[in-house]
Parts: sequence; C-alpha cells; structure tokens
Amino acid sequence: MPYPMEGLPHQVTIYEVGPRDGLQNESAVIPVEVKAELIDRLADAGHKVIEATSFVHPKWVPQLADADELLTRLHRRPGVRYPVLVPNLRGLDRALDLGVDEIAIFASATETFAAKNLNRSLESQFEMFEPVVARALDNGVRVRAYVSMCFGDPWEGPTPIAQVVAVGERLLGLGCYELSLGDTIGVGTPGHVTALIGAFRTPERLAVHFHDTYGQALSNTLAALRCGVTTIDASTGGIGGCPYAESATGNLATEDLVWMLRGLGIETGLDLGKLVSTSTWLAELLGRPSPSRVVQALSKG
Ligand code: HMG
Ligand code: MG
Repeated sequence: MPYPMEGLPHQVTIYEVGPRDGLQNESAVIPVEVKAELIDRLADAGHKVIEATSFVHPKWVPQLADADELLTRLHRRPGVRYPVLVPNLRGLDRALDLGVDEIAIFASATETFAAKNLNRSLESQFEMFEPVVARALDNGVRVRAYVSMCFGDPWEGPTPIAQVVAVGERLLGLGCYELSLGDTIGVGTPGHVTALIGAFRTPERLAVHFHDTYGQALSNTLAALRCGVTTIDASTGGIGGCPYAESATGNLATEDLVWMLRGLGIETGLDLGKLVSTSTWLAELLGRPSPSRVVQALSKG
C-alpha cells in the first residue's frame, strides 16, 4: 500500500548507469558477453534507458575497452535507449560508426578533477566538448551532459555552488538536453542538494547522480524530487565508482530507489523482483555481495 507525499512527481525516469559507472570500476575484467547479458536483463526488468559503456581512451579505462564489440552484441529492444559516454571527437566517431543515437559528455566542476579525469583544465574541457556536441547534434544524436564533483572534491574541498552552475549552464547552452549533477564522492546532503538545484534556471532539465559513500544518496534523491527533478541516475545493485577519484564508492542502488519510489506510489515501470535477481546474479559473478540494502533483504528470500 503506497503512502504518497505532497509535492513529489507522479512518475520518475531511472537512468541506469550500472553497465558503465559500475563496471568501469571493477578490478576484474568482465567478459563482453556477460556485459551484454547484464544490459539485456536490465531491459527485461523494464528499464527504458541504460548507459551501456564508454568510448573513452581504452588505456584510461581498460575495463570498458571492449565498447565497440559490446555495441555489436547488444540486443537492442524497441523503446529502450542505450546512451554511451563520449569525451572527445575520437570517441564520438567510434560511437557514430556503430550507429549510436545518444551520448553523454562528462565535464568537471573543479580544476583538479578536470586534470585527473580528462587531462584538461576547467576551461579547456569546453574546447574538447563543444565540437563533440555540435557534430553529435548535426548527426541527430541526443546529448546528455554530466558535471562531476558538484558538492565537493577530494583535492579542493567543498565546491562553490556558483562554480557548478557556471559549468552546468554552459553545458546546457551547448544544446545538451539534460544535465546530470554528479556527487562523485558522495559528500552532498539534502539541504545542499536543494540549494544547488534552486540555483539553476531550469530545474526541469536536471537529473541527479549520487554516489552513496556517506549513505546520503536516498535522502538526497528525495530532496531532488521535491525540487522537481524527475530523472534519477542509479546503478544495479549499487555498484560503481570512478577510477580517477578513489573516494568514489558505488552509486545509489536502483533497487533501493525503486523500493522508496514504490512506497511513495511513484511510477517507475520497473520489476523489483527481476532487478534483485539480476543484481544477485551479478554479485555472484563479481565475487562479492551487492552493497544494496534492498538486494540484501530481498535475496534472503
Ligand atoms: P589524452 O591523453 O589527453 O588524449 O586523454 P589525447 O587527445 O591527447 O589523445 C592521445 C591519443 O589517444 C591519440 O592517439 C588519440 O587518438 C587517442 P595517437 O594519435 O597518439 O595515436 N584517443 C582515443 N582513442 C580511443 N578513444 C578515444 C580517444 N581519445 C583519444 N575516445 C581523454 C584525454 C579524454 C581521452 C582521456 O582523459 C580519457 O579517456 N578520460 C576518460 C576518463 C574516464 O572515463 N573516467 C570515468 C568516467 S567519468 C565518471 O565516472 C563520472 C560520472 O559518473 C559522473 C559522476 O559520478 O560525477 C560520469
Ligand atoms: Mg558516477
């Protein structure tokens, strides 16, 4: 029996990042056929958008070096979107050759993370992204943008809200359809989330991407929903992290999010039983239990 709360949306889109954000952080290399099966299981559970992989430099993220092969193995289902991460024109060309129709670029809100993750300065990251967005749009490809380190950065401390908004508005101004606010190291808290979202001119174009390092991801999500955000990033079983920010742990677990939304009577279109069995299957392959509390509770039977 759901117990709705005032001021929340009726429907939420869950943007599943497990195959990309989750698997980019695994020390073991996962066989490409397992990745393809994971994506297919997620689609079978009702996901309509699954970030499949990354067309970054294969030496920077060897875990996803099989991106080209994975895309040729995908069983694309009608009505399901399979965006991929792309940093530069080289990555875009690889993606276009494989018929990709949606990409995500990923910028940094801080100088240090821009250097560590992109080998660029805060300013020169835009020189890399601008031609990518222009060429993608010319080819009819939708572009999402991420901005990382929105709440704090391991090297620079708390990130000023004005700095995040400046980077984010600039990315939206390039023609990105959506901006996902990344709490890469999970240090945000609900009041901070509310203040950050409130500082943007177009909250309806925002998504949120919470890593759960300090256990704040669900409460931060509730704060974002109250501000009008309706797209929430999450990863199957709560896997994830960033190889270029050691303090990043897993993302908000999709199952934990679905449990909360179901309790609130908010529609997601996802089958929680299928999500849990997929995360349990994946946890066995990865050789450790899922960090998701809901997966742990429901997989005990
Ligand atoms: P760079 O070394 O400055 O690259 O790396 P470059 O432009 O100088 O090129 C050097 C060589 O690499 C060239 O080859 C390029 O062709 C090749 P050469 O001419 O010397 O033979 N190259 C490529 N090859 C294949 N695919 C490519 C590619 N690009 C260049 N795409 C670069 C710059 C951006 C490529 C590198 O820094 C990179 O790949 N970074 C990605 C790091 C990453 O993937 N991090 C994790 C994802 S971000 C994240 O997880 C956060 C997020 O979840 C949100 C949040 O949590 O906050 C999104
Ligand atoms: Mg992330």
